[in-house]
Amino acid sequence: MCGIIGYLGSHEASPFLVEALKRLEYRGYDSAGIATVNDGALDRRRAVGKLVNLADLLVHTPLRGRSGIGHTRWATHGGPTETNAHPHQASRVAVVHNGIVENFRELRAELAAAGIGFETETDTETVALLTNHYLAQGDSPRAAVERVLPRLEGAFALLFLFAGEDDLLIAARKGSPLAIGHGDGENFVGSDAIALAPLTDRITYLEEGDMAVVTRQSIEIRDREGQLANREMKQVTLDTARVDKGGHKHFMAKEIMEQPQVVGNAIKHYLGEAGTNISLPGEGVDFTRVERMILVACGTAYYACLTAKYWLETLARIPVEVDIASEFRYREPPVTPGTVALFVSQSGETADTLAALRYCQGKADMILSVVNVAESSIARESDLALPILAGTEIGVASTKAFSCQLTVLLLLALKAAQDRATLAEPERERLTAALRGLPAVLNRALDSDGIAATLSQQLAEARDILFLGRGLMYPLALEGALKLKEISYIHAEAYASGELKHGPIALIDKRVPVVVMAPRDALFDKSISNMEEVMARGGKILLISDREGLHAAGDGVWKGIELPYVDPVLTPILYALPAQLLAYHTAIAKGTDVDQPRNLAKSVTVE
Ligand code: AGP
Repeated sequence: MCGIIGYLGSHEASPFLVEALKRLEYRGYDSAGIATVNDGALDRRRAVGKLVNLADLLVHTPLRGRSGIGHTRWATHGGPTETNAHPHQASRVAVVHNGIVENFRELRAELAAAGIGFETETDTETVALLTNHYLAQGDSPRAAVERVLPRLEGAFALLFLFAGEDDLLIAARKGSPLAIGHGDGENFVGSDAIALAPLTDRITYLEEGDMAVVTRQSIEIRDREGQLANREMKQVTLDTARVDKGGHKHFMAKEIMEQPQVVGNAIKHYLGEAGTNISLPGEGVDFTRVERMILVACGTAYYACLTAKYWLETLARIPVEVDIASEFRYREPPVTPGTVALFVSQSGETADTLAALRYCQGKADMILSVVNVAESSIARESDLALPILAGTEIGVASTKAFSCQLTVLLLLALKAAQDRATLAEPERERLTAALRGLPAVLNRALDSDGIAATLSQQLAEARDILFLGRGLMYPLALEGALKLKEISYIHAEAYASGELKHGPIALIDKRVPVVVMAPRDALFDKSISNMEEVMARGGKILLISDREGLHAAGDGVWKGIELPYVDPVLTPILYALPAQLLAYHTAIAKGTDVDQPRNLAKSVTVE
């Protein structure tokens, strides 16, 4: 997934392109580049690594011109090198691309047979060379692009800039998001509205198969059949201020510390200031007619869905299936009448999750989504989108979005229980009261930051780390392992505690820390037995529990993190915090890039 931007303005393009790329860097940061048209000539600057390297290059070798395109890359085809950095240029055209052209090898062979050489290993260069090939045959820029697009298989958001054309951008979208920003006597194109926020709040989202021919004074959009398409221009309210770290060393630290506040915002949004009634946006959901639910997501959002399964099944008695989006979309499971499909996604742009949503359109009774970006593709293609109100999350490792996803999913389960009368009123009152008190409990849990930092010094020395959890804690163990491995690069994996004895216990020895997440709930005694099995084999247990739990576990435990007691139903939201803190401090001890870990990006808009 990459970020792309196009600018047709009345000022020098370079600074606006770089500013927009800063807001798109969450999509990938392997390399960055821009190209402009200056006195009719195409020129470009590219740099490997973070955007700051490109900005430095532009200080020493400025790029002039009032029209341009830019790109920040997450490498798909070809290593993160300057040669492979976008924009890719072929004589009269420069191209930036987000997505994957799956048939690029076939196109390369065709171009090679026509005597056309290649400089890079990328699929995108093939698009530039093919476009240029058609220009050389006498096609106009529009005609050349119209010939190229049908030949591309896979997913793309593309921007084309042409030599000799100071007032022209051509944009095309298939599978990857693309938005047009309306200016006054100037126009812009970007991967999302966040990139365009400093330039305009008037946004038109291209739809699947759209191609747009953009000048400073006009925007012409045609659909996949080549017919003129009238796409709605929306006034979006976006946070134009660039998010800063608020005095923290990393965005991740800031976002961990924001959780009591943003979780509180989500609770108030759905529960109001008092009472136990939960209000959903729009027409809401008639849960009395829901026979089953399927929950689909990726990564951390998938673990939120696994947690929600426990809540929906125990509180609302709704049968739930949970699926990883990349598996679901190709297994094409039957979707029977009475099914509600729910998709969870922080970015709302994850390609696999969006594809799974589209598979369910026309099959499920209703398409729900739980998202953090209200204007995202997944939100716009749902029947009902539930915002999590976490605020912009910059750190690639999701933290506050996860706890807000869990909060909204629990509220949804409680709403379903109320509609289906599966939860006695006193129980509902108890749980909604506990929810109202949760932000204060989360605040206290953040006091474990110090102990987490101390313990992380020792975790950082481990080669392998296991996470164990039962019931509601099993998805949290999975999330704890993911958090740790994605920012510290230590191998970590999670098991349902009861599964350990069925093989993975062979991994246990004194070198393998085992993080056990076990509040004093109905399964606690089972977890104690599992810990004994580990300690009997020299395993080192780091137990995360409440005071009573730590006391009951006894002195055999290697280390402990004490959390406040909270109703067992709410424990997933609480236990996410120490898992995040352990991962954060371990990554610091390892010296890795906490906010932008290697090989990752914040929004995975490719398969
Ligand atoms: C989260 O820490 C990970 N970076 C990643 O697994 C993420 O949760 C996943 O890519 C899904 O993203 P989404 O919520 O934006 O769809």
